[in-house]
Amino acid sequence: MSENLELHPDRNLAMELVRATEAAAIRAVKHIGKGDKNAADGAAVDAMRAFLGTVNFEGLIVIGEGEKDNAPMLFNGEIVGNGNGPKCDIAVDPIDGTSLTAAGRQNAISVIAVSDRGTMLDASAVFYMNKLVAGPEAVGVVDIRKPIGENIRALAKAKGKPVDEMVIAVLDRPRHEALIAEIRAAGAGTRLLLDGDVAGGIHAARYGSRIDMCVGIGGSPEGIVTTCAVKGLGGIVQGTLHPKDGAERERGEAAGLKFDHVYEMDELVRSDNTFFVATGVTDGGLLQGVRKKGPVILTESIVIRGKTGTIRHVEAEYLADRWQ
Ligand code: FBP
Repeated sequence: MSENLELHPDRNLAMELVRATEAAAIRAVKHIGKGDKNAADGAAVDAMRAFLGTVNFEGLIVIGEGEKDNAPMLFNGEIVGNGNGPKCDIAVDPIDGTSLTAAGRQNAISVIAVSDRGTMLDASAVFYMNKLVAGPEAVGVVDIRKPIGENIRALAKAKGKPVDEMVIAVLDRPRHEALIAEIRAAGAGTRLLLDGDVAGGIHAARYGSRIDMCVGIGGSPEGIVTTCAVKGLGGIVQGTLHPKDGAERERGEAAGLKFDHVYEMDELVRSDNTFFVATGVTDGGLLQGVRKKGPVILTESIVIRGKTGTIRHVEAEYLADRWQ
């Protein structure tokens, strides 16, 4: 094996990681629509961790389920993998959309992102980030510092479409009332997301998608994970940390994070050697959820490689009786 393959995440690693998101999605299924988001998340965490333990790599969890005191497994700082193979940073979100899963709603996915060791921004001290995500036409055209209306008009021009056909994804939260009004005042439409701004961001960056841009305040971890995908899709991610209060800002400063600062993609993840892997938990625009057909369980996943921009769709069939 060449030195390069030993040190860096490679495509074999990505295909192994898909097993972990598939397993998390399958184990979450019996909790879909049952109203208990913690049970759904717990089942996905257990399955993901068990599968990660068999993977040939040494993954340092930079973005996990939280600090060790609160998260018994997949906590920030935990090392996962069998210790052989490349040393990586890893971000795990066993279910992005735990509430969606518990409610039986669409668009819940299970996600893993990896990059070279030491390259993922650890923004765990600050829960929220204000984000802007869009596809290749937006590079050098939009900027999170500018008013949303200006960005919409500039991106519409770059894409060669009328402003009134632009669709902007935003988490449906009271904090976004003014932002939503501004988007509509500019003449664009909104796609209001109940949850899940990782899928929203990926849609915005993907070629040919109905969503042109995903904006607003969501989780900081989700911003890093989305960046790993957009490195492969082409496009732009910008983020500014959005502390809930003074104490969170102080914790962020103590952790070396910058406020009133626009984090560009290469600061969010300081490497192009990234992989993003996701499996559908419930049905959604990005991926179909887990289905059971007779004796088999079917899963649909996507693998995005940052370095080459390759997107792979992976469909797997598992024998249901092995997953009792
Ligand atoms: P979880 O599934 O981990 O709860 O995250 C869902 C999510 O919608 C993320 O996609 C998003 O970044 C974040 O929550 C937004 O946080 P909030 O629900 O507090 O607005």
